Amino acid sequence: ERGLRVFDRGFLNTAVIQSSITYIDGDNGILRYRGYPIEQLASESSFLECAYLLIYGSLPTQAQLSLFDREVLLHGLMHADATGFFRSFRYDAHPMAILTSAFAYLGSYYGEANPSLQGQDLYTKCAKGDPVALQNMDRQIFRLIGKATTLAAMAYRVRQGREFVVPPTGMSYTESFLYQLDHLSPTDAFSTSSSSSATPYKPHPILARALDILFILHADHELNASSTTVLQAGSSLPDPYSVVAAGCASLYGPLHGGANEAVIRMLVSIGSPENVPAFLAAVKRREKVLSGFGHRVYKTSDPRSFIIRKVADEVFTVTGPDPLLATAMALHDEALKDDYFVSRKLAPNVDFWSGLIYRAMGFPMDFFPVLFVVPRVVGWLAHWRQMMLSPDGVKIWRPRQIYVGPPERPFVLLNERE
Ligand code: SDX
Repeated sequence: ERGLRVFDRGFLNTAVIQSSITYIDGDNGILRYRGYPIEQLASESSFLECAYLLIYGSLPTQAQLSLFDREVLLHGLMHADATGFFRSFRYDAHPMAILTSAFAYLGSYYGEANPSLQGQDLYTKCAKGDPVALQNMDRQIFRLIGKATTLAAMAYRVRQGREFVVPPTGMSYTESFLYQLDHLSPTDAFSTSSSSSATPYKPHPILARALDILFILHADHELNASSTTVLQAGSSLPDPYSVVAAGCASLYGPLHGGANEAVIRMLVSIGSPENVPAFLAAVKRREKVLSGFGHRVYKTSDPRSFIIRKVADEVFTVTGPDPLLATAMALHDEALKDDYFVSRKLAPNVDFWSGLIYRAMGFPMDFFPVLFVVPRVVGWLAHWRQMMLSPDGVKIWRPRQIYVGPPERPFVLLNERE
């Protein structure tokens, strides 16, 4: 066996790449995109500016942003051919299952003869600096970022039996997404008027900005489980659509992007602030999980959770406070005082408050992870592009294992086994 292998369960302490995209300091609660603090990006920039920053490494000039905006939106308008694909799902299919499949479908739809050859072809030419191939890579990136909103909106509307809508140009990325959703929430807070009425659709400015900030906060997070999945899949050089579909599948789980949905289910099951102590006792007996708490890297608070908490208050000024807010605040305050959680360095993460915002906006619970995928497609593509253009070239990710199975033994014929 070549050399001593270190067994590092779940990559607890293994660095597999060098990256210049995102920096996290888990002990001090620091998050930066290409060196810019997340707090400044959340208050001063737009999601599309952050998308450009994460992918290309610098804040865009106005000209660069306008061109990027136009490319992403124009590539994003879904070709109607996908209608049959979306209509093939059951009425109650989970939107994450639809979206995961839709990204792979897109690969076959836009991929050339063989999407995986397309990945190999794209890589070999980009590695040589072929300008046409680099332009082709950019076009795939524009298309995937744009289509993330269109596919998500189609997954949302197909379950309501509603037609798909194509947004007019001239809207921001987030406004265009809201238009495609044309999301008539119970409080109807999303749009001052529906897109079907005479007056032009305009999402509520506070809610549109809140969603844009949430998209900024969810855009990237270093090598989380789904970004690792993207690079693991991408290292064998399939097309970028299949790579994004792999990331989507990983984010789906309740330990990762599915946590925002799990938090609401948890709060509903607790029911009221009075039941919080009994719930926390069950968590300590390991009968329940405190969703929205804990993080592999942050051993102090997740800096995003503070920003999201403020966004929640702003959203509630429009939608009215969510009935679950009192239970969430009681759970938050009790857990942070309880030595079981403090000793394990468990604090609220990005998912603890975000579900309350989405719920207040009227989104169905199972759509919450989709609202995590849409911005995270940017982070996945930033990492994928960084790997594809790496000066060291792409090496397939093939980790080793520690074998603990039986030693060599002779085969036993079927009729001799008891
Ligand atoms: C995201 O990686 C990223 O960057 C992800 C993300 C991103 O932007 O991409 O930040 C987004 O996925 C946030 C995390 C969302 N998930 C949840 O909220 C689910 C609940 N959290 C846990 O499942 C857990 O905290 C993880 C999965 C987030 C982290 O798990 P780790 O790093 O493997 O930690 P661990 O399981 O080893 O926990 C250490 C201890 C254990 O206790 P002991 O066995 O040592 O006694 O803390 C306990 C765990 O049992 N623990 C919890 C807990 N999380 C950890 N106990 C109760 N409730 C929890 N939530």
